[in-house]
Amino acid sequence: MKVAFIGTGSMGSLLIEAFLRSGALHPNYICASNRSRQKADALANRHPGLRVTGSNAEAANGSQIVFLCVKPLDYPAVIEELSGVLDERQIVVSITSPVQIGMLEERLSSKIAKIIPSITHSALSGASLCIYGSRILPEDRLLLEQLMSSISIPVSIRETETRIASDIASCGPAFIAFFLQQWAEAASRQTGIGRAEALRLGAEMLHGTGKLLTEGGFTPEQLQRRVAVPGGVTAEGIAVLQNGLEHVFTGLIETTHRKYDEDLGKLNHLFGLQPVPDADAVEPD
Ligand SMILES: NC(=O)c1ccc[n+]([C@@H]2O[C@H](COP(=O)([O-])OP(=O)(O)OC[C@H]3O[C@@H](n4cnc5c(N)ncnc54)[C@H](OP(=O)(O)O)[C@@H]3O)[C@@H](O)[C@H]2O)c1
Repeated sequence: MKVAFIGTGSMGSLLIEAFLRSGALHPNYICASNRSRQKADALANRHPGLRVTGSNAEAANGSQIVFLCVKPLDYPAVIEELSGVLDERQIVVSITSPVQIGMLEERLSSKIAKIIPSITHSALSGASLCIYGSRILPEDRLLLEQLMSSISIPVSIRETETRIASDIASCGPAFIAFFLQQWAEAASRQTGIGRAEALRLGAEMLHGTGKLLTEGGFTPEQLQRRVAVPGGVTAEGIAVLQNGLEHVFTGLIETTHRKYDEDLGKLNHLFGLQPVPDADAVEPD
């Protein structure tokens, strides 16, 4: 099976390298193209056999699956280039949350899926969010989920849930890393423990907690009950967090949804679907 990756920036190269490391794909069956060719060439140098093409159309041509790993504002150019090349047997996978499946189905004759990956896939873990377009058949879904399960846990979601699911699965590593950083810095300031030591303890704790909440079968409530004895140190700490975090998650969700709606408006404008006069930039995620 030939698989193409259009865009070999941060996520495109992360996906390619994760698929190679997992053994799901062999370099000989990967085609890659990137606007500035040197990024794709660097990947090919690291993985002999991987083919770099001079155009996106050439990469997509004959590929069973075509991953689009470019930023939202770059979609129109890529779609224009691919529209004459793709056929109805090929599967295009967009990894960008605000680009709607309907927009792609209108412009491309291929089957369309949206799969939102996460940086956690570079550790062959984390959930990938899978949304399927109307032309995707059960066997296409099976193929995509087999491929994604080599580097992640594929989770099927509705397109309307993309933002909140991406907040947790895809932005989540950055949010949790920020939480850990703040905690380690406070620990270092207030107690004198080294920042690096506090971070190492925290990272190991996160790793173990993740395992308990997945393969360990714990729910968050059970985990808290097991650690926090009533009146003990942990229970006192949880009370502090409860006070401090009461409005944090509401604000976080409101903010990411507002930003997503703005991005969606700008994209609609770009695709000629809706006028948004002040559109300037659309950020990833
Ligand atoms: N970062 C995350 O954790 C994450 C998670 C899930 C989804 N995503 C989504 O992944 C997408 C890509 O993000 P990223 O962080 O990988 O961005 P990135 O590092 O900027 O990579 C995008 C790549 O696309 C290339 N490109 C742009 N226009 C092109 C064109 N017309 N033809 C071929 N290649 C083209 C760029 O080439 P140049 O080298 O010339 O700039 C760049 O290498 C975004 O839509 C983002 O929302 C990101």
